[in-house]
Amino acid sequence: RLQAISDAIRVIPHFPKQGIMFQDITTLLLDHKVFKHTVDIIVDRYRDMDISVVAGVEARGFMFAPSIALAIGAKFVPLRKPRKLPGEVISESYVLEYGTDSLEMHVGAVQPGERALIIDDLVATGGTLFAATKLLERLGAEVVECACVIGLPEVKEKFRRLLLRLGDQGEVD
Ligand code: PRP
Ligand code: MG
Repeated sequence: RLQAISDAIRVIPHFPKQGIMFQDITTLLLDHKVFKHTVDIIVDRYRDMDISVVAGVEARGFMFAPSIALAIGAKFVPLRKPRKLPGEVISESYVLEYGTDSLEMHVGAVQPGERALIIDDLVATGGTLFAATKLLERLGAEVVECACVIGLPEVKEKFRRLLLRLGDQGEVD
């Protein structure tokens, strides 16, 4: 059934620019069974881990995170692109291939000591998830794990080597 998920993701070469193989999850969302199965796999892993916060990364993380939050009985916290949140925010910048971007989070969305899960659609350089993790940690939350729908094999290998170099026993799965 993992194969069905993988088959439902459309790969569009050279979008948005030359050389990028765009992983289009909108085709996965069109198939109710596959969409549900994708959410269920993540929910099964986290339902008994005492998680009270599911943080989703704008924009594509928003397509999965609220469903996961509802299913595990946690609150949903949006991590948004700059200048979208109306209240008091904290902000973290990250480096893109060209330039930088940042994510913002409402102060007061989590309390110190809360256990958080961060959700996005995919990890490439890890810059986005790193910034997301820092936001949660700055407010005193404990980031239990980050979970993505798409993990590219070459990325997994890169992260494993990076963690080893840092002397971290963290799992990349
Ligand atoms: C994409 C993707 C991840 C991020 C991964 O988001 O959805 O959030 O890039 O890249 P990284 O691991 O190198 O940081 P993007 O900001 O391009 O667009 P989106 O708003 O459509 O999610
Ligand atoms: Mg994104």
